[in-house]
Amino acid sequence: MTTTAQIGTEALRALRIDGARLLRRIDELARIGADPLGGVTRPAFSAEDRQAQQYVRAEAAGAGLRTEVDQAGNVIIRRAHDTVPGPVVLMGSHLDTVLNGGRLDGAYGVLAALEVLQTVVEAGVELVHEPVAVAFANEEGALFPQPFWGSMALTGQTDRLPDDPRDRHGDSLAGPLHLAGGDLAQLGRAAWPPRSVRSYLELHIEQGPVLEELNLPIGVVTDIVGRVVYDVRVRGRAGHAGTTPMGRRRDAAVAMSHVVIAAERTATTAGRCRVATAGCVTVSPGATNVIPSEARISVEFRDESAARIADAATSFVAELRAVAELTGCEIVAEETLRTVPVPTDPALRDLIAACAEDLGHGHTRLPSGAGHDAQIVAEVAPTGMIFVPSLKGLSHTPEEDTAPADLVAGADVLLQAALALGAGDR
Ligand code: GLV
Ligand code: MN
Ligand code: MN
Repeated sequence: MTTTAQIGTEALRALRIDGARLLRRIDELARIGADPLGGVTRPAFSAEDRQAQQYVRAEAAGAGLRTEVDQAGNVIIRRAHDTVPGPVVLMGSHLDTVLNGGRLDGAYGVLAALEVLQTVVEAGVELVHEPVAVAFANEEGALFPQPFWGSMALTGQTDRLPDDPRDRHGDSLAGPLHLAGGDLAQLGRAAWPPRSVRSYLELHIEQGPVLEELNLPIGVVTDIVGRVVYDVRVRGRAGHAGTTPMGRRRDAAVAMSHVVIAAERTATTAGRCRVATAGCVTVSPGATNVIPSEARISVEFRDESAARIADAATSFVAELRAVAELTGCEIVAEETLRTVPVPTDPALRDLIAACAEDLGHGHTRLPSGAGHDAQIVAEVAPTGMIFVPSLKGLSHTPEEDTAPADLVAGADVLLQAALALGAGDR
C-alpha cells in the first residue's frame, strides 16, 4: 500500500481533481428536482432530495467508496477501509435547496468533497487523518423549518432541535426521515464522539458579489453571520369585504403588512442589523371578498455581531406590540432559530490561503453573509471555508451560477487543504 512517505509531499502537491468529472456531476445532480419554473426545487426530505442522495451514493460507490446514511439522514462517504482511524478531515455541505433555488448552493461542496475522496483513492494515498465526505441533511429548512438539522445532529447539538419536528403544513418529520434512511427515535446516535473531527472544510459558492467584483477566484471565509428567525402569527377577524366598515375591521393582512415594514425598517432606517427579510408570508382564508382573519410571516435578521442581532430582535418584538394595538389583531412571535456569528479557524484560513497561493489562484479574505453547516460544526472542530465567485452575486435563485474554471479551482484548493491536513503537515 502506498504511504504518505512513499508518495512524498511534492507528489501530493501535484495532485489535482478531475475537473471534467466534477462539472459532469454538477450538471447531472442539477437535473434532480429541476423546476419547470426554473432552477432547482429539492427541499430536504422530499422525493427529489432522496433521489439526489441516491445519485451521490451511486457515484461514490462507483468510485469504490463506502456510503452510509445516519439517523439524521446525513450521507457519509468514506474510503473503503474496515475501520476509519480518527480524527478525520471532514468535508462537505448539503444537497437540499430552497424553492426555485440554484444548482450550486450546497451541491457543489458535496460533489467537490466526493471528488477529493475519489482523487485520493485513485492516487493510492494513505493519510494520517482520513478524509471523509458528508452531505448534511436539511441545511436550508425550506420544507421542514429546522435548518442545519443534519449538522446539529452529527455534532451532538440535538438540544437545539425540536423533539417533534414538523413541516410547514404540520406533518411530522418521522415518516420522511425514515424514507431517507434516518430514524427520529434514534437521532442521538447520529452524534459523533468528541474530537472525532480533526478539521472541517466546506467549499461553497460565495452567494454575493465580492469575489466577482475583485475578479478573484478564491475567497477565504473569516466569519459566518449570525441569524435570528421568527415565526410571526397574526390573528384578526374574518368578515364581509363589502359590508364591514373600515373602522370595525381587524384585518390580518393589514397587520401583516405592518409587520413586514417593521422588519425592513429594523435594518434600514433604524440600522440595528445588516439585513432583514420577511421571506414567507401567507394570508387566510385567501378570498377576494373576505377580510383576512389570519396571517403568518417568517422574519429573519442577520448580522456579524450577536449584540446587534439581539438588539434588532428586541426592538422588532416591541414594534409588534404597537402593530397589534394599531390593528386590533393578536400577534405572537415565536423565535425558531438563533445562531451566533462564528469565526473560522485562523490556522485553516492561513492554510486555505497558502493552498490557493501554491495553485496560483488569486484570493482574498471575506465574511459570509449566508449561513452554512460550517458554523454548526465550528462548535466542535476547527472549521475552514472556501468560497468561489457567484456570477452577478446571485444565489437562492435559478440564475445562480459560477464559471466552470472557478468551480474547478475551488475544488483543487479543497483537495490541497485536505491533503495537507490529512498528511498531518498542519
Ligand atoms: C442558507 O442558505 C442561508 O439562508 O443562509
Ligand atoms: Mn442556501
Ligand atoms: Mn448552502
